[in-house]
Amino acid sequence: MSITLPQGTPDVVRINALQLILPLLSGAQWPTDEPNEPVLQPVELSLEIQHDTRAAASSDDIESCIDYSKLARGIQKKLSAEPVYDSLDHVADTVCQLIVEKYTGAFEHFQLTIVQPKASLLCEALVASYTSELVHGQWHVSEVKHTIRGLRCPTIIGIHPHEREARQETRVTVDFWSRDVRHVANLPEGRGLVRSLYEAIYHSQYLTLEALASYVAKLMISVVSDGTIAFDVKVNASKPHAIPLAASAEVVIHRTPGDFPADTLSPPAEEETSPLDFHVTKTGVNHIAVLALGSNLGDRFRHIEYALRLLEIPRELLEEEGEHREGASPMQLTVVNTSFLYETKAMYVTDQPAFINGACVVETNLSPLTLLRLVKKVEEVVGRVPSIRHGPRAVDVDIIFYGSLVYDTRPSARKNDLNLYENQLIIPHARLAEREFVLRPVLDMIPDFIHPALNKTVRQLAENMEAPMEDWLMLRAVPFPKLPLSPSEVSLYPSIPPVPSTAAYWTYSTETRKCFKTHVMATLNTTPDSFSDGSKHNNLLSAMEYVRDSVSAGADIVDIGGYSTRPNAPFVSVEDELERVIPFVKAIRSGQPQTTSEETTGANPVENVLLSVDTFRPEVAEAAIAAGVNCINDVYAFMGPDSYQESDEGKVVSSVVTARMKATARKYSTPVMLMHSRGDAGQNKDYSMYNYAGEDAVIEGIRVELGGKVEKIVTGKGGVRRWLVIVDPGIGFSKTVQGNLHTLKNAAKVTADVVIGHGETQKRNPLRGYSQLIGVSRKSFLGKILAEGENARETTPTERTWATAAAVTCAVQQGAVSVRVHDVKKMADVVKIADALWR
Ligand SMILES: *[C@@H]1O[C@H](CO)[C@@H](O)[C@H](O)[C@H]1NC(C)=O
Ligand SMILES: *[C@@H]1O[C@H](CO)[C@@H](O)[C@H](O)[C@H]1NC(C)=O
Ligand SMILES: *[C@@H]1O[C@H](CO)[C@@H](O)[C@H](O)[C@H]1NC(C)=O
Repeated sequence: MSITLPQGTPDVVRINALQLILPLLSGAQWPTDEPNEPVLQPVELSLEIQHDTRAAASSDDIESCIDYSKLARGIQKKLSAEPVYDSLDHVADTVCQLIVEKYTGAFEHFQLTIVQPKASLLCEALVASYTSELVHGQWHVSEVKHTIRGLRCPTIIGIHPHEREARQETRVTVDFWSRDVRHVANLPEGRGLVRSLYEAIYHSQYLTLEALASYVAKLMISVVSDGTIAFDVKVNASKPHAIPLAASAEVVIHRTPGDFPADTLSPPAEEETSPLDFHVTKTGVNHIAVLALGSNLGDRFRHIEYALRLLEIPRELLEEEGEHREGASPMQLTVVNTSFLYETKAMYVTDQPAFINGACVVETNLSPLTLLRLVKKVEEVVGRVPSIRHGPRAVDVDIIFYGSLVYDTRPSARKNDLNLYENQLIIPHARLAEREFVLRPVLDMIPDFIHPALNKTVRQLAENMEAPMEDWLMLRAVPFPKLPLSPSEVSLYPSIPPVPSTAAYWTYSTETRKCFKTHVMATLNTTPDSFSDGSKHNNLLSAMEYVRDSVSAGADIVDIGGYSTRPNAPFVSVEDELERVIPFVKAIRSGQPQTTSEETTGANPVENVLLSVDTFRPEVAEAAIAAGVNCINDVYAFMGPDSYQESDEGKVVSSVVTARMKATARKYSTPVMLMHSRGDAGQNKDYSMYNYAGEDAVIEGIRVELGGKVEKIVTGKGGVRRWLVIVDPGIGFSKTVQGNLHTLKNAAKVTADVVIGHGETQKRNPLRGYSQLIGVSRKSFLGKILAEGENARETTPTERTWATAAAVTCAVQQGAVSVRVHDVKKMADVVKIADALWR
């Protein structure tokens, strides 16, 4: 068998590592300006010659061979003639002279490599290598290459917590070469270059070897390039200790000056070394960051809520990792804004549960890098699901924005290469513009924020989306917690209360009504006069029967109230309200007492039905939730009558009620239904005038007035999650008959994404995107209409069932997520048909 070499593959003859001791100027691996005394230093010289050896091989003719020993001796002799060498180039030059003088004609191509092993304490060797060719009888240097071989430097590198604590060794080899000999003139003195490279690597804090290698390449280019010489850099960076059973983890990258535009090259400023290199900000000034959250595993809503709570205790999470540093200000992070949650259907994968996606704005004094570590830690803690050891992650948390920081470790020529992003740290998040399931939640919070790298607002990015998702692929979701908490649900971290699991969730869309159903809310009034004989036992029995009947008729949630909000309703003390509400909640949750209607018993267990408590009192809300209610329904939107206190200067508003209501909703992750109404009690005052412009004055009034309250409840420290807020336009409250009708038939506009106000006060509708609860059942405006015109008649509330039906269909048509009704048996049919018509 014969091996055929490709035509033109030259034969090669080498002299390998010829040992020499030469008088080199101190540190004079490459040129130096400083005149100093020469020092004898070891140098290894290799010469590779391309020479056709066929003649010699066939004849074994000594004449057609190059005499290696003669050549080696010749080199030694020639080099010893010079008293001093100021650089390796000088050495190379001398050898080349010899070849030109003695060997022109014998071969036409050679490569000379000079290795200086003792050049620097910090690396294995400095190497210079020259390739020369004989072109038209003239020797011509076709490539000059310099190498810093095996630079060892400890640095912080890696994303694992232990890798952030202490420096580990890295090995870096840098080759840079050019076909242009002027490249040599640009070189700084070799030992100094090695030292600055060492310093830069030592002080860097990269997460990945790729980023470190890229940084080294960029540094080399900025040192060597003056913008006119084309040259290449190859960086080989490795972490010998990264993988226990492997010699090292290694990356090799190849860059040219074109990868780094001129403006990013000029002197490697300190900031360039590591813009992320600070533990907590020195000034303590808070930074705004935007985080995206996603989960498609297990109790997705619970995972996201758990992640948000964990994010707010960075000290506890990171000190576990030994993160605390002396003298540093305490680590802080506050969630100040949240998005809606979206259920995003995986478009091509059908056997996976859909993703729940959301986002939040945080205020923090953590550096981006520390924030990243916190985020990883949160993912890890939330993912500690014992049964799924190596499964997909329970929650994903990504940093989307960090103020207007732009940080990208990818080479500039590949900035659009999204496949290159996995091991790079990129802020803003590289895929924001193409990922609608991240963009939409961010849009909920900061539509006008300008993406610092793309110079477009979040809204523009959303509008520029090439193929926006169909609405039904991304419905908003409102999760209800399973309450009461079972005693076994405890938190690993004492400073955050246990996160309830999810009992049920509703989906909706404000853009299309076609893809979600209307949820029926039954009302359970527990005032004593609501039931036949007023005795407590009978009250409980009839209440249970009502709940059972409602659930079997199709009620999705039962609203329990002990204090009527009707105008002129008698005052009820806190104690009485508690006494009326709590026993009912307990009875429903325990399924006791059994009702007499045997046929429904057990068929539709009422123990698990969703409950809301209709109250404006924090005491009642807290007790009801502790007893098992899943949701707060407050007609005063957390500004109940107790918020207004008499003082010498008249009435003053206190934020105590709001704060307590918020804290309760936060602690138990309960949805809150916030209704539009005016004033402290709504009693006997004409609140029905709306001084807003246009025919939609009432709608505008609701947006502005309820919107203001909702913004206060959702944003800032301790805010209620946006996805837990359901708004109620308050039909029948502080509105005229015409105002009620207008509100009902235009309800969709209340939560539309529109600009409101005029001139300077213009802003986006603060209620955009929220789901709506609409209550029209038996209301007096229906009675007023029935009492007018043809066939006019007075009606009691219970005689307004048909009127209610007509109004309910309109609420469904307007896109309400839920309608609050009394006669569930009848209204469930009405809603079903209305859903069939409009959903
Ligand atoms: C990179 O450098 C290491 C030693 O630092 C060496 O073992 C490895 O072969 C080099 N890889 C390449 C592709 O040059
Ligand atoms: C969300 O919070 C940010 C930061 O506090 C604020 O600028 C923005 O207006 C808030 N967005 C909404 C919709 O309230
Ligand atoms: C960003 O875009 C705006 C217009 O959309 C333009 O006026 C401005 O100059 C741009 N800024 C940068 C830094 O490109």
